[in-house]
Amino acid sequence: MARIAVVGSLNADLLVRVARHPRPGETLHGSGGEIAPGGKGANQALAAALLGGDVAMVGAVGDDAHAGPATALLRDAGVDLGALRMVAGATGLAIVAVADSGENAIIVIPGANGTLGAAAVEEATGTIAGADIVVLQGEIPRDGIERAAALATGRLVVNLAPVLELARWVLEAADPLVVNEHEAALVLDQLGLPAARDAQAAARALLGAGVRSAVVTLGADGALVADGDGVTHVPSPQVEVVDTTGAGDAFVGALAFRLSQGERLREAAAFAARVGAFACTGHGAQPSYPRAGDVLPG
Ligand code: RIB
Repeated sequence: MARIAVVGSLNADLLVRVARHPRPGETLHGSGGEIAPGGKGANQALAAALLGGDVAMVGAVGDDAHAGPATALLRDAGVDLGALRMVAGATGLAIVAVADSGENAIIVIPGANGTLGAAAVEEATGTIAGADIVVLQGEIPRDGIERAAALATGRLVVNLAPVLELARWVLEAADPLVVNEHEAALVLDQLGLPAARDAQAAARALLGAGVRSAVVTLGADGALVADGDGVTHVPSPQVEVVDTTGAGDAFVGALAFRLSQGERLREAAAFAARVGAFACTGHGAQPSYPRAGDVLPG
């Protein structure tokens, strides 16, 4: 089976529910307080593994009490954690506040994720260079992302969330670059290009800038897939939204899984949109992800 290596963050997510998000300077009562596994890298790795992918995770956790919860579901799902480092200090921590509307606000304290620079990534050369698909995000240091991209011999899926400044060749090597509309605008600005008038134009501009293929996610409206065949809209099924946390990561993990099965980008994205919608119907990130065989909306 084709192998997926995810190089990225693992966090312990502190889940908080609020009726609405507080304004600056305001104190509100909330509920919840559970710790759930998260981190964009780990979320994407888990999403791909639960669907049946052969997945390895390259990342770092601290030597604290959060390391166990942060990795629990990856272990259960059989993700290869041989390239996971344990470093002195704290595991990444995310405070995830979800409002009744389902919208979230997240503060991330990188902790051990901040140690995953070029030298640490280099230690996982075998895992990265041996993978058919390498998945990257923006929650580890820039030099770690660039080193992983340089070591990759397989297809590179780059989800630039959050956006950080990367060497242009990494963006150009992405196949696809996955960004939401807001992130697409920041990337275009980074590339020295004018703001696009809409998501279609942004997707085209990314291709025009030399990115091999791009997926611009549109939340409940699905995604735009831009490649040599043009720009295609893939819809998202409409669901009763409980919590959008990690839905974008579920999308990326599912996309990587289907690409690892040899599917074309637009079909893989159409499937990923259904997985992302499923992930909005439950609380938290990883606990809301579907397994192979679960009935997906749409
Ligand atoms: O994308 C959702 C994730 O962002 C959360 O799991 C949190 O850990 C942050 O990394």
